[in-house]
Amino acid sequence: MLKPLVVVTGRSGQLGWEIEQLSQQYSQQFHFLFTSRAELDLSNPASIAPFFERYSPAYFINCAAYTAVDKAEQEQTLAYTINADSVGLIAKHCAEINAVLITISTDYVFDGNGNSPYLTSTATKPINYYGYSKWMGEQLALSNCKKSIVIRTSWVYSTHGNNFVKTMLRLMNDRPSLNVVSDQIGSPTSAADLAATIISIIQSIEKGNAHYGIYQYSNSGVISWYDFAVAIAKEANKKTIVSPIPSTDFPTPAKRPAYSVMDTSGLENDYAIQTIHWLDSLQNCINKLL
Ligand SMILES: NC(=O)c1ccc[n+]([C@@H]2O[C@H](COP(=O)([O-])OP(=O)(O)OC[C@H]3O[C@@H](n4cnc5c(N)ncnc54)[C@H](OP(=O)(O)O)[C@@H]3O)[C@@H](O)[C@H]2O)c1
Repeated sequence: MLKPLVVVTGRSGQLGWEIEQLSQQYSQQFHFLFTSRAELDLSNPASIAPFFERYSPAYFINCAAYTAVDKAEQEQTLAYTINADSVGLIAKHCAEINAVLITISTDYVFDGNGNSPYLTSTATKPINYYGYSKWMGEQLALSNCKKSIVIRTSWVYSTHGNNFVKTMLRLMNDRPSLNVVSDQIGSPTSAADLAATIISIIQSIEKGNAHYGIYQYSNSGVISWYDFAVAIAKEANKKTIVSPIPSTDFPTPAKRPAYSVMDTSGLENDYAIQTIHWLDSLQNCINKLL
């Protein structure tokens, strides 16, 4: 029997890379095709139709995105093309061939002023332009393809690529002390755990358990960036003194949410996904990095 083709974009990014590592365990069940911008450039929507003429995936997992949050305030057109227009076009093509689209979104679709976990039904109000472009991508995916799954995530890190955990470890090697914001609260997400979740979802759909729409995924537990940095230092045995500072002491071109915790129960209910506590996943990542 022909194995279902699973296309995964953003091969060089944190999530795409983690899915590629994991995919080796599922090569009996799925045929994976990982793409980088050389095969499919989302800043050039005209490249999308020829891609779908060549490949007819059963699952299209879009991990590619314009992710430079601060730069997006300046490069709005490029961010919109990659995060919204191209996602909408991919969704149209997926609908034409009856493929499932899984595309990743962000906690930045919320304004960050909440004080209890955001539900998928909570009103969105993107906090910055990146968040706006991803929010438009969500809507275009959902309206153009009935078999779309949007997964919002937050504070993503991995052993691969650029992220807070690796930046902290690098700074902790060089500096005796560090200041980290303590008034932004959220939940970290191990890209490896999100990759496993995505594989679980497509396996579940293969077995006939399919649900579409908006979902949210992060590790469980709620912390500040400061708490996260303290835990990184502890787990990696670094002597650096980490001090809490308010966000006003660390201004950024794009606004950041004060509160960005998302309710993840939808994936638990529909796909039996168990979330892993952030500290367990952090320990796992640091063990691999050290
Ligand atoms: N990182 C986070 O904290 C975070 C938080 C919430 C949501 N998310 C979302 O989670 C998803 C995965 O994020 P990530 O952390 O894995 O991102 P990442 O590490 O920044 O990787 C982004 C990927 O997108 C690719 N890409 C960028 N522009 C492209 C283009 N024009 N055409 C094709 N590919 C392009 C990049 O390729 P190059 O290497 O060639 O640039 C890279 O492979 C994204 O949708 C992101 O918006 C991330």
